[in-house]
Amino acid sequence: MDLTLLVTLLLPADQALPFDEVSKDVPEESKVQKQNDTDGVCVFKCLLNRDTECCRVGKESILITLGYNSALLKFESPTDLSSFSSTLKRCRNEKKESSVFNQRTEEASAVQYFQFYGCISQQQNMMQDFVRTATYHRAILQNHIDFRDKVVLDVGCGSGILSFFAVQAGARRVYAVEASSVAQYAEMLVKNNHLSDKIIVVPGKIEDISLPEAVDVIISEPMGYMLFNERMLESYLHSKKWLKANGMMFPTFGDIHLAPFSDEQLYMEHYSRANFWYQQSFYGVNLSSLRGAAMDEYFRQPIVDTFDIRILMARTVKYTVNFVDAEEADLHRVEIPFVFQLTQSGLVHGLAFWFDVAFVGSLVTVWLSTAPTEPLTHWYQVRCLLHTPLFAKEGETLSGKVLFVANRRQSYDIQIVALVNQTGFRSGNILDLKNPFFRFA
Ligand SMILES: C[S@@+](CC[C@H](N)C(=O)[O-])C[C@H]1O[C@@H](n2cnc3c(N)ncnc32)[C@H](O)[C@@H]1O
Repeated sequence: MDLTLLVTLLLPADQALPFDEVSKDVPEESKVQKQNDTDGVCVFKCLLNRDTECCRVGKESILITLGYNSALLKFESPTDLSSFSSTLKRCRNEKKESSVFNQRTEEASAVQYFQFYGCISQQQNMMQDFVRTATYHRAILQNHIDFRDKVVLDVGCGSGILSFFAVQAGARRVYAVEASSVAQYAEMLVKNNHLSDKIIVVPGKIEDISLPEAVDVIISEPMGYMLFNERMLESYLHSKKWLKANGMMFPTFGDIHLAPFSDEQLYMEHYSRANFWYQQSFYGVNLSSLRGAAMDEYFRQPIVDTFDIRILMARTVKYTVNFVDAEEADLHRVEIPFVFQLTQSGLVHGLAFWFDVAFVGSLVTVWLSTAPTEPLTHWYQVRCLLHTPLFAKEGETLSGKVLFVANRRQSYDIQIVALVNQTGFRSGNILDLKNPFFRFA
């Protein structure tokens, strides 16, 4: 795709004349053409395509070479420059070919995802998760020395709430990057709170946008169900290309916890839902040939809700992702081996999961926990059933692994294999994290 760019130059007509003169030998399509000339303002039209040479000059200008001419475009603000340069990139066809995000994401998934986050109600939902928002506020403000006079990047700023926290902690400048249409609302809040000199809303994906400078701290809230859902952690890790050496990541690391659980009621409930398809005369129609498919579909759904911790049958196993060290590719395939020493006898129906993230600041380390022992958050906890429950006795060991394989629907295929070592009983399951069952009341 080529872009027709209209450049308005505030030049007296006589000064603008050389533009016409030196364009003589240039092919017609690359020519800078004068459009009109009124009140001393000359409007030039030129075509930009993938061969157009351009580069950023300082924080607010772009130099474009047009045939034999060069135009230095100076923008009123870094926000204007960012959105122009994103458009330019798209028109130079850079985005589709090179964006890490586009390469790893089906377009339909991305459209639905950013439509969801474009809704004010969804942003409100997250903001009203008191545990989440208050913990971020505390983590940032209690580590104010990490923010004072610093340049901060907020990855996926949504309403911009974390950017405001960074300014409250003394940040000199915050680049608030947001890919969904909620960016325009963030911009309204920034203007209305008189912080346009400090918070620069940059519309676009973190993988596509460009910033005028490197940053001291990156803040973000990229956690999905089971920590990994949405694959936004990869965007968070990607953003480190803008981080100065020894810069800080808020959150700094994430721990995913897993433990075997026993919950006969949950298992039977799933079975009963699938048994709808066992009917041989539903309004006179035999549904039973679909029972197997229904059972498979239901068992592929991770269950999002909360539970009493007494259903847990062993101490948890923990897997840590250090956001300072990890790279995006580390999250394409995450293998978590486990060995649980059972603390009670009974049927193991599956594995329960939750996560914590830590903000390691210079003054304090603050934890945000989604554990079943802590106040409930909008992430709840997630449970994955085994196809067949496994009987095991106290003192025996349950070993195996959980494998997360990233997919192009911004989620993961989850494979679980489990074995009771003493008896040789085995079970497992394959689940689709993109399609969880929301069971909470
Ligand atoms: C979980 S919300 C957090 C919003 C806000 N930071 C907050 O704490 O309330 C994640 C936000 O990141 C945005 N987002 C996700 N992936 C992104 C990407 N690759 N580039 C830019 N924004 C992204 C989403 O549109 C969404 O608004």
